[in-house]
Amino acid sequence: MQEEFAKKILEEISEGVIFVEDFRVIYANKAASNITGFPPKEMKGKYCFEILRCELCQKNCPVRENKQLPLEINQVSVMDRYNEEKFLKIRIQPLNNGWTIILQDITREVRLSKEFHGRYGISDIITAHPKLLEIIHILPRIAMSDSPVLIEGESGTGKEIFASAIKDLSKRRSKPYLRINCAAIPENLIESELFGYKKGAFTDARTDKKGLFSIADGGTLLLDEIAELPQQTQAKLLRVLEEGEIIPLGGTTPEKVNVRIIAATNKNLRLLVEEGRFREDLFYRLNVVYIYLPPLRERKEDIPLLVEHFIDYLNTIKGKEIKGIKNRAMSLLMDYDYPGNVRELKNIIESAFVLIDEGYIDVNHLPVYIREDKGERRRIEEALRQARWKKSEAAKLLGISRATLWRKMKKYGLR
Ligand SMILES: Nc1ncnc2c1ncn2[C@@H]1O[C@H](COP(=O)(O)OP(=O)(O)OP(=O)(O)O)[C@@H](O)[C@H]1O
Ligand SMILES: [Mg+2]
Repeated sequence: MQEEFAKKILEEISEGVIFVEDFRVIYANKAASNITGFPPKEMKGKYCFEILRCELCQKNCPVRENKQLPLEINQVSVMDRYNEEKFLKIRIQPLNNGWTIILQDITREVRLSKEFHGRYGISDIITAHPKLLEIIHILPRIAMSDSPVLIEGESGTGKEIFASAIKDLSKRRSKPYLRINCAAIPENLIESELFGYKKGAFTDARTDKKGLFSIADGGTLLLDEIAELPQQTQAKLLRVLEEGEIIPLGGTTPEKVNVRIIAATNKNLRLLVEEGRFREDLFYRLNVVYIYLPPLRERKEDIPLLVEHFIDYLNTIKGKEIKGIKNRAMSLLMDYDYPGNVRELKNIIESAFVLIDEGYIDVNHLPVYIREDKGERRRIEEALRQARWKKSEAAKLLGISRATLWRKMKKYGLR
């Protein structure tokens, strides 16, 4: 009776629920069927990756990689039964001998967002950091120059938003703007992706295929994660930049292309050149204009501005009326380190939006790890004070080693 009742509820909710054992679907509810396009009967017994068909399944399935569960992924792109791309928020949690996968369809939101279309303009960049303001000030000049631009910065610092703003300010504004993630494409496919191929170039090449350079002709191409470009492709790319022409795989005649290159990386490219892992000549070709985006922990003045910006943005997109954030919650956000930079801050605000529809974001709407962080900082500070800043004594009070204390003091900026 109880079970039947629970099943009825499961059939009614808007989240897709799939229960999987040994990667095989045991149960899927109606919403899961709507999202994936497979009727419930067809789903049963299939492999989860057959019906979810998501980028994650193929490359790094969190379950196969023994990631800690439960696990929430804010945005993955999947292919439904009709080969239609959808965007989902996914939660995976262990249950009995398997896992439940909970799916939330966020396709509409993603399509509405500027990120999806690469339509960020200069006014979408929020900052009060002097160095970044300087860059923004000269961004129109950079954009008009038509020179290659290299953007460096840790993950989530805003490299894509800057690239998109440069495109937007340039003469190529209304021409194609394409992005390739050099890290996400298998080594053997990247050249055909970039330069295309001719019919018969290899067994599967039944027709000619245009590469990104041809499709982006007249426009802008963002080479994201450029540091991951294989050596062999680096050489070919250099040739393209020098000659302004491409030769598709299996082709003989060069084709003229006119593409502005923006390269982005979260590595230090110059260092990779010194280590012999990136071609020096290509580095100089790309590094004509250089933009460095500092990590968020080094521009804390941006945190309140970004928080306000994300609240406004999410209110619009989700139709909510959140008024702001309580001071004590804000001070936790100010104290945090943000290994994931602005993207992480955005996700933190977004996760608060799951919990409330109006009023103010408070401490209990923030992820636990941020609250704990503060707890630890405070505990350490107190122990230090009690020990009159003698580290060995404070370490003893806290029950940790001196080395650990030293590391944590550094992490929290205590000295
Ligand atoms: N200065 C900023 N103002 C407003 N939003 C920002 C800013 N910087 C980053 N963001 C937002 O943070 C998120 C991450 O930015 P972006 O995708 O540009 O990072 P990235 O440097 O390309 O990261 P990755 O190296 O991981 O690809 C995006 O949603 C972007 O809109
Ligand atoms: Mg990026």
